[in-house]
Amino acid sequence: MTLPVAGKDKDSSGFTDPEEELRGLARRALHHFKNRTTDRAESPMQLSVDAYLDQGRFKREFDRIFTQLPMGLALSVELPEPGSYLARTICRKPVLLTRDQHGVVRAFLNVCRHRGAIVCAEGAGKKARFVCPYHSWAYAADGELVSLNAVKTFGEVDKSTLGLTELPCSEKAGVIWVALDPRSTFDIDAWLGEFSEKLASLDLSNWYVYEQRDLPGPGWKVTIDGYLEVYHHDTVHGKTVGKHTVGNLLVHDTYGPHQRLTFGRKSLSELDQEEGDGWDGNQYIRIVHSVFPNLSISGIVGGHCLVSQVFPGDSPSSTVTRQTLLCASKPQSDAEELAAREFSAMTLQAVRDEDYVVGNSIQRGLESGANTHFVIGRNEPGLQHYHQWVARFMQDACAG
Ligand code: FES
Ligand SMILES: [Fe+2]
Repeated sequence: MTLPVAGKDKDSSGFTDPEEELRGLARRALHHFKNRTTDRAESPMQLSVDAYLDQGRFKREFDRIFTQLPMGLALSVELPEPGSYLARTICRKPVLLTRDQHGVVRAFLNVCRHRGAIVCAEGAGKKARFVCPYHSWAYAADGELVSLNAVKTFGEVDKSTLGLTELPCSEKAGVIWVALDPRSTFDIDAWLGEFSEKLASLDLSNWYVYEQRDLPGPGWKVTIDGYLEVYHHDTVHGKTVGKHTVGNLLVHDTYGPHQRLTFGRKSLSELDQEEGDGWDGNQYIRIVHSVFPNLSISGIVGGHCLVSQVFPGDSPSSTVTRQTLLCASKPQSDAEELAAREFSAMTLQAVRDEDYVVGNSIQRGLESGANTHFVIGRNEPGLQHYHQWVARFMQDACAG
């Protein structure tokens, strides 16, 4: 199966200077703000509720999209130095990420090659060796089997063939990309295309991880849908993020399956008075970088950033979202600590208590049988784009 080259396919900015690009986005947002308009798709789109409910379809899509495609599984700063590791269960697979002595990040199935025990307990830290708790086979950070307990009694085996099973892995733009099927391959430059530059501009390698938490949520598509539109911001988020953003105003750019969503901030009302060339576009917009299929990097708000990874659960009706809260640097003063805590509380409320409460109600509504189709509006182009790309990957899978 071939992966698409994610070239720039809808981004009218055309800027090479990042500051000017931000100002260009702010000007596009201002145009919508003045005219009470938004970027729109060609027409409303109907989507069968089977896309959200059907078990067989869920399994096929899960196998194709969440095991064969690259996913951003961690940030580079989560593996800060040679010897760092991170062990987590992701989409029901035990995964071990390491940074070896040469600084290269690698990904493995965290499963012993002897008789299959989980080698490294879940968590993160630094280790030179990963010793299986069952019979003490030991692996190095590059996955090699370096010692086999009681080798004289065990018998002759070729240790070089018994390293941890490696997963395709690449580090780019401050993110560690992994495909969960060891037989798959990917070229991260082809996968990200020009979106790579947009991600690199976030400088994610230099942020500080302030907090991480896992949030249970509704089904995969219901959850992701909520990250891809701003139509609901005034109604659902009036007390949180909606206080700062303009509801139903979206500047929408796409890069293959990936998307950049630019929201207008209420401060746009002051932008007309800006003089000269040197103004800061960031003051007037919030940008969400949405990497297919499940990574959302949301807004740099006063030196804070929310990274969300949405992983499907066992069925079409549940997910776990890994929220990572970043600060531009480690809070040093009481005021910076307070600002970070407030950002954390606000994002928790907006997602867990607002988005996912509605999402769970949608899940119940889906299961009621009230709808055969959803109608996705012209003002929800992010959702249309996402579902069209899901369909496209599944068509590729059938054709392949
Ligand atoms: S299962 Fe790991 S050493 Fe036996
Ligand atoms: Fe929301």
